[in-house]
Amino acid sequence: MTVSVLDRDRVRELFDLRGAYLELLGGNYTDDPYPMWNRLRDEAPVHAGIVHELTGFDGQAFFHGLPFPDRPHFSAFSFEACDAAYRDPELFASSHEPVDLAKGEPGAMNSMLSMGGAEHRRYRGLVQPSFVPGKAEWWIRNWIERTVHLLIDGFVDDGRAELNVDFCAAIPVLTITGSFGFTVDQALDVRAAVNREPAKVIEMLKPVVAARRESPQDDLISVLVEAEFKDEDGTTHRLSDPEIYSFALLLLAAGSGTTWKQMGITLALLLQRPDVLERVRHDRDLLRPAIEESVRYAPTDPMFSRWVTRDTEFFGVDVPEGSVLHICLGAANRDPARWENPDEYDIDRPMKPTLAFGGGPHICLGMHVARSEMTVGIGALLDRLPNLRLDPDAEPPRIIGMYERGATAIPILFG
Ligand code: HEM
Repeated sequence: MTVSVLDRDRVRELFDLRGAYLELLGGNYTDDPYPMWNRLRDEAPVHAGIVHELTGFDGQAFFHGLPFPDRPHFSAFSFEACDAAYRDPELFASSHEPVDLAKGEPGAMNSMLSMGGAEHRRYRGLVQPSFVPGKAEWWIRNWIERTVHLLIDGFVDDGRAELNVDFCAAIPVLTITGSFGFTVDQALDVRAAVNREPAKVIEMLKPVVAARRESPQDDLISVLVEAEFKDEDGTTHRLSDPEIYSFALLLLAAGSGTTWKQMGITLALLLQRPDVLERVRHDRDLLRPAIEESVRYAPTDPMFSRWVTRDTEFFGVDVPEGSVLHICLGAANRDPARWENPDEYDIDRPMKPTLAFGGGPHICLGMHVARSEMTVGIGALLDRLPNLRLDPDAEPPRIIGMYERGATAIPILFG
C-alpha cells in the first residue's frame, strides 16, 4: 500500500459517528441492556422471543436472523446454552436456505458465512491460513502499523483528538483494503460504496483480480486467485471472479465496523479507568488482557442467530423445526456460572475463552487480525501521546446500540 496523506475531513465525512449506529440495527437504543439480560439469564437459559423485545426495546431491528416474522423465535442467554448452540451446527444452521457461492450475485451473505458442513470447511480452508495467529506479523508489518501511524500523524500536533472517528474507524477498512492491494485513496472510495453500492466495489476489484491472476503478489487477492478449491468429487479448480468478489465483500462487511466499534469500546473503558490505563501504559503485557476483557465485557455484536433444522427440546424449551434461535452472546459473556463478578471490567481476571468471536465452525475468521489491529493501535497511542486522558470538559463516551454496540465520541487531550 502506498501511504500518502490521509484526508481527515473525508474520513470524518465517511465515518460519521451518528450514521454508524443504524436505526435498523437498534442504533437508537441507548440504555444499558445488561441488567435485563442478567435477569433473563437468571430466570431461564432459553426464552421464547427475540432479544431486543425481551430487553424492552420496542424499535424495529434488522440483523442476523431478523426479522423473519413468519417463524417462531427463541433466545439463549446462558453461556452453556449459547455455547451448546454454537457447537451443534447440524441442529442450529447458519442460514435458512442453501447457499451456492458459484451462483447468484456476489455479496457478503452469498458467502461461506451462510454455508454449512463440508462445503463451508472447504471454502473457509482456502483463506484460513492467511488468518492464523502466525500470520499476525504479516498483517501488522504490511498494513496495520503504517495505517495506525498515518492516522496518529494527522492529530499528534493538536494536543487533542476524537479517537472514535479520527482513529478507530479507518484502521480496519484501510487494513483490509490494503491487503486487497488498494491505495489509501481507493480505500476511502471503497468505504463510501461498500454499504449501498457493492457493485462499485466489485468494479474496483476487477482490475486487481485480473492483475493478480497475471502476476501474484504478497497479498490476499493473490491468495484467493491462487487457491485450489477441491469439489466434493475431488476435482480441483481455481475460484471464479464472482467467488473472489464475495469473499472480499464478506471480509469488508465482517471486519470493518466490528473492529472499529470494539477498539472504541476498549479505549472508552480504559480512559474511564485512568489507573488501569496507567498500568497498561507501563506494562504492555497488560494490553492483551485489557482487550480480551473488553470483548468479554462489552462485545460489539452481542447477538448472532441460527436456524433450527429439526424439532428439539433445548434447555427445557420445545423449539420447533424452522424456528430462529438468537444466541445472546453478550449475556453469555457475563454468566456468573463462568466468571466471578461478571459485571466488573477486570483486566486481572483469569483469561477464559468468551463467545465474543462466536464459536463452532463459523468462529470469527478475522479475530487474530482484529486483536492485532487493537493491540498495535492502542499501543501506538500510548507510545506517542503522553498524558493521554479524556477531555474533562467534553461529554464522556457512552456505549450505545442494541445489535451493533459501540462508543459515542471519545474526546481526548494529551501532552
Ligand atoms: C473485534 C472485532 C470482531 C468481532 C467482535 C467479530 C465477531 C464475529 C462473530 C461473533 C462471528 C460469528 C458470526 C456467527 O456466529 O454467525 C464472526 C464471523 C466472521 N468474522 Fe469476525 N469479528 C471481528 C472482526 C473481524 C475481522 C477483522 C474480520 C476480517 C478481516 C472478520 C471476518 C469474519 C468472517 C469472514 C466471519 C465468518 C466466518 C465463517 O462464516 O466461517 N471479523 N465475527
